[in-house]
Amino acid sequence: MTSDEVRQAIERALEDTLPRRSEHSAALVDALSWSVLGGGKRLRGILACATALAFGELNLNRVIDLAISIELMHAYSLVHDDLPAMDDADLRRGQSSTHRKFGEAMAILAGDALQAMAFDVIVNSGELSDGQQASAIRVLAEKAGWQGMVGGQAWDIDSKRLPKNEKELEILQGAKTGDMFQTAILFGLIAANDELNDALRQWGESLGAKLGCAFQMVDDLIDVMESSSTTGKPENQDQIAGKVTYPALLGLSTTRKRIATVQEEITQLLDEFQLDQTLLAETVDQCIERIA
Ligand code: IPE
Ligand code: IPE
Ligand code: MG
Ligand code: MG
Ligand code: MG
Repeated sequence: MTSDEVRQAIERALEDTLPRRSEHSAALVDALSWSVLGGGKRLRGILACATALAFGELNLNRVIDLAISIELMHAYSLVHDDLPAMDDADLRRGQSSTHRKFGEAMAILAGDALQAMAFDVIVNSGELSDGQQASAIRVLAEKAGWQGMVGGQAWDIDSKRLPKNEKELEILQGAKTGDMFQTAILFGLIAANDELNDALRQWGESLGAKLGCAFQMVDDLIDVMESSSTTGKPENQDQIAGKVTYPALLGLSTTRKRIATVQEEITQLLDEFQLDQTLLAETVDQCIERIA
């Protein structure tokens, strides 16, 4: 199976999952579709699928609900990340950000609804056992919550507590970005294994953390180097907002070296298992090799 085929399957499942009408608010339904279906690389969803396939789960249906769940949670995080009270970004995925199109209140509500929906698709999955559902919900609640992605986002916007060195930046970005990548890998492992033992969980967390770290370093580089027409996001938004990022802290060439080091560590982790990891390795490359 190729990553394009998996991406298309995720796209179809997302379309099927989103509501088509609401008795309460047509605007909310439109804002949900705008936020979720308007582009996006689907890397976290594909990673979840690629991990499950690498670990022997050959039926994509057994993991697709978890792929949808992580993409919904991610979409919510982007809608809220772009709000004027946070990064104040007008552009996302090459189109107006949700609050620019539908207003701030509707963007907040769309994000709220997407977060709830991320749990709902797990609970209502006909493919996962009760144990798998419980494990996935536990992971998602922990990694998306106050000590995970939201915790990282809170630190990221705290201009009085800028990360002072590389170690602090790694912790911040590990929470805001790494935790969602960890979730993607753990979701794949949960789909492929009825019981997630400690060793496998640790391996998945380690891989997800490294992937998230490399991914965010690349995102920070892209923010400096690429134009809006390539990224679909505003240019140079980190510097304008005074964010401490890898390029700001270490410079472009050291950031590139750090990315290469983490990429090697990721390869070593993948080599710990005798896996059919073609799709997983390809997806890992897609997460990292996004810059010219
Ligand atoms: C953007 O993630 C948010 C970060 C963690 C940097 P992506 O670059 O994966 O966003 P989409 O889903 O492809 O739009
Ligand atoms: C956002 O990081 C991480 C999230 C949890 C959404 P950024 O603020 O760097 O993401 P972009 O650059 O807006 O996509
Ligand atoms: Mg941000
Ligand atoms: Mg942002
Ligand atoms: Mg960014």
